[in-house]
Amino acid sequence: MNQITPLYPDLEQALFAEDMVAGLSRSPKATPPKWFYDAAGSALFDDITRLPEYYPTRTERALLDAKGAEIAAAIGPGRTVVEYGSGSAAKAIALLSQLQEPAGYLCVEIDPGAARATAAEVKRAYPDLAVRGVAGDFTHLEGEVMAGRRPRLGFFPGSTVGNFPPEEAGRLLGAMRRHLGEGAQLLLGADLIKDRATLEAAYDDAAGVTARFNKNLLVRANRELGADFDLDSFEHRAVWNAHQARIEMRLVSTRDQTVQLAGRRFVFEPGESIHTESSYKFDRPRLETLAAAGGWRIAQMWTPADGAFSLSLLTAD
Ligand code: AVJ
Repeated sequence: MNQITPLYPDLEQALFAEDMVAGLSRSPKATPPKWFYDAAGSALFDDITRLPEYYPTRTERALLDAKGAEIAAAIGPGRTVVEYGSGSAAKAIALLSQLQEPAGYLCVEIDPGAARATAAEVKRAYPDLAVRGVAGDFTHLEGEVMAGRRPRLGFFPGSTVGNFPPEEAGRLLGAMRRHLGEGAQLLLGADLIKDRATLEAAYDDAAGVTARFNKNLLVRANRELGADFDLDSFEHRAVWNAHQARIEMRLVSTRDQTVQLAGRRFVFEPGESIHTESSYKFDRPRLETLAAAGGWRIAQMWTPADGAFSLSLLTAD
């Protein structure tokens, strides 16, 4: 393995505190989902991807395996793959196994442990490939050190793009296009709009793993920021908002309570919630609008027969 760019833990914690204070001061209360992903949160998300109700990961993987040759032909040879928010190495290895003569692999991942593990695992699978893991925030790509030869293929799987409101998502895809440079392509995984029952079950599983993932935000705030969230007084909720085409995840206060965080007090009325995540879902027109907002166009799109998920190859020309 080449090298890991370290995060600055103190800076990360200061940013976490700042986002939590700002989010809990807002009305209605809302916090950014990126703080889910400490080591425990990354492990819980990994568990989510194996739940029977959570179809996106396995559907995307099956699509990548089934259409791999076609996707690789559309991409062409000699690309350096840059994965944003890798989480684990499985998808990268599946993609690399399909590509013609990949020139290298780099992942940008907010959890330093996950960045290191992903890079190490890819290197183990492809010892001759130039591999690099960067612990960094892909929403702040401007300052990121870039490695690897051009042309580059961005890889943004898992419908992580759905975590951002449409305008922000457009700006993010634009930042990725500039980050990837001349001749860029982007392979984008996006979950598709479907019936409410399927969507809500995917975000409120019977085993309660997603509830634990959601509550891990409070666990982390208690540990890292000295907050005093009473974990038993918040309930996990996931609701499909058809009008905005998004799943909304919340932590609902079951009682009247005051929480301390970073020297401040935040009052919760019974039933008052923190909106902890939105997961936008797409259709072809929405994806075309999104791609165009980032300066891309959809060269090709692949979906399974049941239309559950999509992989799109975006080009910057
Ligand atoms: C990692 C953002 C794609 O929105 O489906 C899973 C996160 N949240 N279950 C998603 C998540 C609750 C996931 N993404």
